[in-house]
Parts: sequence; structure tokens; C-alpha cells
Amino acid sequence: MNKSVQSARKILLLIGTLAGLSIGPAAMAQDQTVGDGVFTADQVSAGQAVYDAQCKNCHNMRFYRDTLRSWNNQPLLYLWENIMGTMPADNPGSLMYEEYTDVIAYILHENGFPAGEATLDPDNGMDKIKILAP
Ligand code: HEC
Repeated sequence: MNKSVQSARKILLLIGTLAGLSIGPAAMAQDQTVGDGVFTADQVSAGQAVYDAQCKNCHNMRFYRDTLRSWNNQPLLYLWENIMGTMPADNPGSLMYEEYTDVIAYILHENGFPAGEATLDPDNGMDKIKILAP
């Protein structure tokens, strides 16, 4: 085999490897977003009750839309932790973990993101879900 055939093969191999990486299952697993059905419809309806009772007085949905925009590309877990640590502003941390999770599902759903099969769970993969601007 001559040298130029050899290097052409190397280049083809490299292109193949790069193409494989960008569409491979590993890359997709890391790129999960709030648009991928990461909460259930049950969480949305439970979250609405929490929202109406605990959050509605101080913020409207436009506020959450702006919040999601400013958190674009951040892990969803960070927003969960932030809300849990600071909200409701008059009684931070007063809700159950599950209620904070449900209220986030509701807020995401109200901003156009779909419910799906997966249950949103702060102990299970929420650090790998990226927030998108609605
Ligand atoms: C007593 C009023 C009050 C209540 C009730 C309340 N908040 Fe807030 N919230 C605030 C204030 C004040 C801020 C900070 C100032 C601002 O950005 O408007 C804030 C900020 C936030 C932010 C922005 C965080 C950031 O860093 O971008 C989010 C998200 C949020 N609240 C969610 C919630 C949720 C969810 C609930 C219900 C569980 C809730 N809030 C209940 C007053 C309240």
C-alpha cells in the first residue's frame, strides 16, 4: 500500500469516528433536555395544586418564563435546589421534596414542555437534564 492511500484511509477512519460520536447513544443520553418528556402528567397536576397554594401570590407565569430563559442550558437540578433553598420567599424550604419537584413539572408544562413516561426525580438524573429557554 502506498503512503497516500494509507493517509486517505486514516482520514476516512477519523471522519467515521467523529460522525459516530455525534449521533451515538452516549452523546444523546447526556444531551437530555426539559423538552424530552422528563416528568409525568400526574406530576403536572400535583404541581398545579402546590403552585396555586404556594407560589401564585408572588409570581405569574411570565416570571417563570423569564426565569427559564435566564437558566437556559443549566442543569434542572440547580433550579430545583435554588427554589428549594429560597422559596416560598416567606417560608423557604417549607415544602416537601416531592412538592418542589411537582411544581417544577407544572411550571415546565405551562411553558410548553411535554409530559412523558419518566418521573422527574432529584435523586435520579436531574443533574443531566438541561433547561431550555421556552
Ligand atoms: C412571598 C412571596 C413569594 C412566594 C410565595 C414565592 N416566591 Fe419565588 N420569589 C420571590 C421573590 C421576592 C424572589 C426574588 C426576587 C425576584 O426575582 O422577583 C423570588 C424568586 C423566585 C425565582 C427566581 C430564582 C432565580 O434565581 O432565578 C423562582 C424560580 C421562584 N421564586 C419560584 C417560586 C416558587 C416555585 C414558589 C412556590 C413554591 C415561589 N417562588 C413562591 C417571592 C415569592
